[in-house]
Amino acid sequence: MLYQPVRGNAEATGLCELHNADCTAILPEIPDGSVDLVVTSPPYNVGKPYETRSALDTYVEYQTSIIEECFRVLSAHGSICWQVGNWVDASEIIPLDSIVIPIFRRLGMKIRSRVVWTFGHGLHCTKRFSGRHETVVWATKSSDYHFDLDSIRVPQKYPNKRHYKGPNKGELSGNPLGKNPGDVWEISNVKNRHPEKTAHPCQFPEELVERLVLGLSKAGQTVLDPFAGSGTVGAVCNRLDRRSVLIERAPEYVEIIRDRLGAPRPEARSQVGGEVVLDPSIEDLLSLEPWLSSGAEGPAVPVGIVAL
Ligand SMILES: C[S@@+](CC[C@H](N)C(=O)[O-])C[C@H]1O[C@@H](n2cnc3c(N)ncnc32)[C@H](O)[C@@H]1O
Repeated sequence: MLYQPVRGNAEATGLCELHNADCTAILPEIPDGSVDLVVTSPPYNVGKPYETRSALDTYVEYQTSIIEECFRVLSAHGSICWQVGNWVDASEIIPLDSIVIPIFRRLGMKIRSRVVWTFGHGLHCTKRFSGRHETVVWATKSSDYHFDLDSIRVPQKYPNKRHYKGPNKGELSGNPLGKNPGDVWEISNVKNRHPEKTAHPCQFPEELVERLVLGLSKAGQTVLDPFAGSGTVGAVCNRLDRRSVLIERAPEYVEIIRDRLGAPRPEARSQVGGEVVLDPSIEDLLSLEPWLSSGAEGPAVPVGIVAL
């Protein structure tokens, strides 16, 4: 499938409702059952520029109140996708999905998948295995939910494989439309030189959101992101003909969203699922290891390695 350019000014056309506000102020204004899908990546309480680190209990209480509101605004057939990583403290990790899954279950939601999103790049740890995955928890409000598998199939490993015996002998053994993408998704994270990179420090990739939006909502339906960041959910919804409601507290990120949704993007990727090529710059190709170029003997902990 080809990427369509983002439609003109999504705010002006009403395709996107953008709020520069705290989501705790806006969510109560959204009517019950008016949203079909929530896709979001909340702050992880790890001290990023856009959050104030708090005690874990306080964070869990706060997340619970937001999830309860998302549950209230969700339609009976709707889904919530909560994309999270680890909370880290003194080299101890708490995977945040282990915290949010019980919140969803207490609300009576059903967990349908815990998708492992794996990527090749990240910090190098010295006291534990370097983190190379995060997760998406997909929960549905009821047992009658929308899941359009055909819209998100991926190519079969052996597309021409056929039954070699039995009543279906000679026929294709796999679905010609492709296979279920599974629950381990390898997608580049959005770091420097990624074509989608904006000034926001923690974007999730459009490809990850696209699979969720295509598979779990229909054209014309409404998708909510209460922690919109650079507006990735809005950008994907514009392309796929879904309405989006985006809430972002920081004005500087809202400006990024407006830029991202306000103009056609001829530079958009050309293929769903295509590998994103992170072009190394000429400086990367020519640079020596930092400790060689500085003439120093060598750092105790090489650059890029953190003792998290
Ligand atoms: C992990 S980032 C989301 C990034 C986003 N998924 C993207 O692709 O750009 C979380 C965002 O939530 C915003 N945020 C944090 N607390 C908020 C709140 N209470 N209400 C609205 N936005 C909030 C932060 O400013 C930050 O941009």
